[in-house]
Amino acid sequence: ATSDAKNGKTRDILKKLDETGKNCVIFYGSQTGTAEDYASRLAKEGSQRFGLKTMVADLEEYDFDNLDGFPEDKVAFFVLATYGEGEPTDNAVEFYQFVTGEDVSFDKGDDRPLASLKYVTFGLGNNTYEHYNAMVRNVDTALTKLGAKRIGTAGEGDDGAGTMEEDFLAWKEPMWVALAEEMGLEERETHYEPVFSVIEQESMSPEDESVYVGEPNQYHLGEGGKGPYSAHNPYIAPIAESRELFTVKDRNCLHMEIDIAGSGMSYQTGDHIAVWPTNPGVEVDRFLEVLGLAKKRHTVIRIKGLDVTAKVPFPTPTTYDATFRFYLEICAPVSRQFVASLAAFAPDEKSKAELVRLGNDKDYFHDKIASQCLNIAQVLQSLTSTPFSSVPFSLLIEGINKIQPRYYSISSSSLVHKDRVGITAVVESIRIPGATHVVKGVTTNYLLALKQKQHGEPELDSHDLKYAITGPRNKYDGIYVPVHIRHSNFKLPSDPAKPVIMIGPGTGVAPFRGFIQERAAQAAGGEKVGMTVLFYGCRNRNEDFLYREEWGTYQAKLGDSLQIITAFSREAAEKVYVQHRLRENAQMVNNLLKQKANLYVCGDAANMAREVNVVLAQIISEQRNLPLAKGEEEVKHMRSSGAYQEDVWS
Ligand code: 2AM
Repeated sequence: ATSDAKNGKTRDILKKLDETGKNCVIFYGSQTGTAEDYASRLAKEGSQRFGLKTMVADLEEYDFDNLDGFPEDKVAFFVLATYGEGEPTDNAVEFYQFVTGEDVSFDKGDDRPLASLKYVTFGLGNNTYEHYNAMVRNVDTALTKLGAKRIGTAGEGDDGAGTMEEDFLAWKEPMWVALAEEMGLEERETHYEPVFSVIEQESMSPEDESVYVGEPNQYHLGEGGKGPYSAHNPYIAPIAESRELFTVKDRNCLHMEIDIAGSGMSYQTGDHIAVWPTNPGVEVDRFLEVLGLAKKRHTVIRIKGLDVTAKVPFPTPTTYDATFRFYLEICAPVSRQFVASLAAFAPDEKSKAELVRLGNDKDYFHDKIASQCLNIAQVLQSLTSTPFSSVPFSLLIEGINKIQPRYYSISSSSLVHKDRVGITAVVESIRIPGATHVVKGVTTNYLLALKQKQHGEPELDSHDLKYAITGPRNKYDGIYVPVHIRHSNFKLPSDPAKPVIMIGPGTGVAPFRGFIQERAAQAAGGEKVGMTVLFYGCRNRNEDFLYREEWGTYQAKLGDSLQIITAFSREAAEKVYVQHRLRENAQMVNNLLKQKANLYVCGDAANMAREVNVVLAQIISEQRNLPLAKGEEEVKHMRSSGAYQEDVWS
């Protein structure tokens, strides 16, 4: 077994379990934090309800070649999200390749090397994507094949149907019964036990150099950041430019250019940029009020795990204010299980009874809370005006996800703008039918506030940047945003002479602006550039036609090899969408595909990308006189060979 030389931490899970006296490890493969959250919740429940000695572990931090020595009296959980096109999450890539690999090798030579391994598994997926829950399915098959014994069913949660939380709750009950039976565990009366100690530091001030007030980690405490920058260490980047792209007043779409010069980070056309948001001031204030912490907002707190394996999810010492503002995902919709856990700390019997009811009654919870997308503070606030002062702060750290970066498809070409990363983001404000409040996208509204600040515009809807990443120490002079780059496989063909077809309505056009910018530069540089066709859709050419003025400059360089085909959905009585235009241009599309064009789709996964897929199969079958099944087969083949690529979201 190896040891991580950098920090002396062991990568040997058997040793770790032994040393810490644990008999249950809960591994997670997480991209946006949900799987990690479920892992923590299972760890807690296992220990409190069944007396298991649990620990949570990031798959990335361990080796797996010794799983054949996993003790029979212990159990491993795998909580696995499926990412993108059926891929493992970044932190699970090595684990996935190891267990599903062709020549997975263990010292134990037989064909059931994992016979002593008992495991439990739950997958997080989205049925609007192909390869639904591929990760948990493939890992489960691989582990079973290697002789390991699964306890309970291989659970599957569906984000696409919006049932993730309920799927999880429904899966775990029978799983616990099966696990208790298998391991001879006794269920016991539960009472809350904090995972963290939170100690107020009267002698410290948020001005102290060692106190974290928004800094992502220790490299940022001094003068500024220190590289290398990555998902674990974001770069606090200057916003070089920001402007509005829509001409209508009631909706916003931002164009931003992030300056990464001197950061040591680089990107390639088609990559993603991750943006680390700051929570809106109104929600930070709401949390502080509801929990009775408003007067203590800038009190310095030091947080420690009460168990050696409990990791504090953000840097400490920090303050209550900074915890809510920078480190926890406070705007996320609250889960039913968490609501139930708050009942014990209600300030009066009436709100306690209501919390118990919400926790027990799935339909009632859905009607009152989930359908309105309420966060924790909004729920508590609706129950009573008395603050919930006895909620342990540890419970909040345990129950609220740590803040996650949001990924945007980069809308510039790295060939043209090596150090300037383009972002094209529509600002989300969703009015839920029947609800009194508007649900706002945290990150896009944060970016909007930064843009307003940059231009000295009044902040129309206060995100409150008073304490934003500049912090009370005002380390950064100007408009900054923490970012990192995530590399993707969404790439132009290496030979620019190859034709490309791009389909990107709305902000789905983002990566294609980068693609077209790149091909225009290649053409201007004398390279032979193949047909470049963009299908773009928006509501109305005079309102939300993104980069309307800019396309002409690319046309000037690419001439007839650039074709932009538009679908304006709200100009006529009947809706016109990109897939309708695709159909109208069936012959051209088919001809380009025959010339080995690459086809790209970016934007909405739930409807648009699916419908494009359907129309494409129809086009191929009609144009080539093939049965529809053959057309569908050809589209599948295009996908698997990389000729059909998607960058979609839901
Ligand atoms: P709509 O809002 O008028 O219905 C960018 O959002 C563009 O995508 C808008 O013109 C929007 O039209 C359109 N759009 C909505 N649903 C779509 C779908 N299922 N397929 C393709 N485009 C769609």
